[in-house]
Amino acid sequence: MSTNVTWKGRWTFILAATGSAVGLGNIWKFPYITGEYGGGAFVLVYLACILLIGIPVMIAEIMVGRAGRSDPVHSMSKMGKAAGRSANWGAVGAIGILAGLMIMMFYSVVAGWALDYVAQSISGNYHQATTATIEQNFSLLLSDPSEQLIWHSMFCLITASIVAGGVTNGIGKSVDILMPILFGCLLLLLGYSWLNGDFSAGLHFMFDTDFSKLNSEAIIVAMGHAFFTLSLGMGAIMAYGAYFPGKTSIGKTVLTIAILDTVIALVAGMAMFPLVFANGLTPSQGPGLMFVTLPIAFSTMNGGQFFGTIFFALVSIAALSSSISLIEPGVAWLEKYGVKRPLSTFSLTGVAWLGGIACIYYGEVFDALDYITANIMLPLGGLLIAVFVGRILSRSTVAQEVGMGTGALFKSWWFVLRYLAPIGIILIFLNSLKLI
Ligand code: TRP
Repeated sequence: MSTNVTWKGRWTFILAATGSAVGLGNIWKFPYITGEYGGGAFVLVYLACILLIGIPVMIAEIMVGRAGRSDPVHSMSKMGKAAGRSANWGAVGAIGILAGLMIMMFYSVVAGWALDYVAQSISGNYHQATTATIEQNFSLLLSDPSEQLIWHSMFCLITASIVAGGVTNGIGKSVDILMPILFGCLLLLLGYSWLNGDFSAGLHFMFDTDFSKLNSEAIIVAMGHAFFTLSLGMGAIMAYGAYFPGKTSIGKTVLTIAILDTVIALVAGMAMFPLVFANGLTPSQGPGLMFVTLPIAFSTMNGGQFFGTIFFALVSIAALSSSISLIEPGVAWLEKYGVKRPLSTFSLTGVAWLGGIACIYYGEVFDALDYITANIMLPLGGLLIAVFVGRILSRSTVAQEVGMGTGALFKSWWFVLRYLAPIGIILIFLNSLKLI
């Protein structure tokens, strides 16, 4: 990674980071876990975690990346050493690289399902089909490993080809065009769901807060998802931050990314739940939610075959702009040891591909990887990054590097990063372990 390459301006960084943040987490995972954990109260905890933990940690990640101008391992060890503390903080980056590969293992399988649905849309498979047939369609895919394997492999191959070519050029340009189209498509589905779904039931489900439905597992999943959806806790945003233009405000940039990410997740939920309630489906039906509700909308919509194809293609692309950020930190790290980009990219993606095969054959592997990464590794990584920036580095270095001045804005971020975010993460961990 060259130290003087930067994104072409603030917006390209915003789009690349948003491309990493907006992915299957928003459109596939958020609606289905909201369904599983009972709606409103879960959404509220998730929003609180974005605001009080996610945003401050994202500022810290970008700051470390920009100041270190290197991969997460080297950026953290370099800054740790410069602060007169241990260089071992680089280990946090190393755990992050591992977490990225573990996420990629199940992520690429789900992205494969999305690719499969592009093909299904083109061939008119669910066009004018009944709800029951559409539900059955998804179960058929899940029980067909070779079909999943084809699409999973294809997705891994595309991800690797992009990362192998270097991140700054290809990604910056493509997300520029694709993210707005994806958002337009989601708005179209929202409109459809408003006209044809049970919109008020959807609204009530997502925004009525019934705290009796909130158990400790729901709270840790909500926090884990806040990390997952913002791509935090594993150094992905730190690796991107290494290319962050010097003079740009980190705070404003992070706010833009977090708002875009959250709005897209909420719109995806509002496009799906009204259809769930109008079609006699259950909100808690799990990972298949998106692959069932949306085809139902497309099956009866004018031009549904066309829009379905476009939509699933865009979901696949959103997944792609996220998956590259799962592989990139490891590749950037190996580059420092002289390993050529194509070799490291294909080796690391190869490891993730093998793990993906295990996910296809064993549902428990899929669930375990999802649970361990999102709910344990990412919050733990986020905690360590918050402690590193808030307590290991000196206040003056941080104030200078983050560039938010020394006024109220900096002071409140500094407070949240030193106290609120770490204590919040620790309390949620303890709570989920049933220790409090
Ligand atoms: N944020 C992405 C999504 O919501 C997933 C993702 C990409 C990610 N890179 C990451 C999650 C790094 C955690 C860490 O789909």
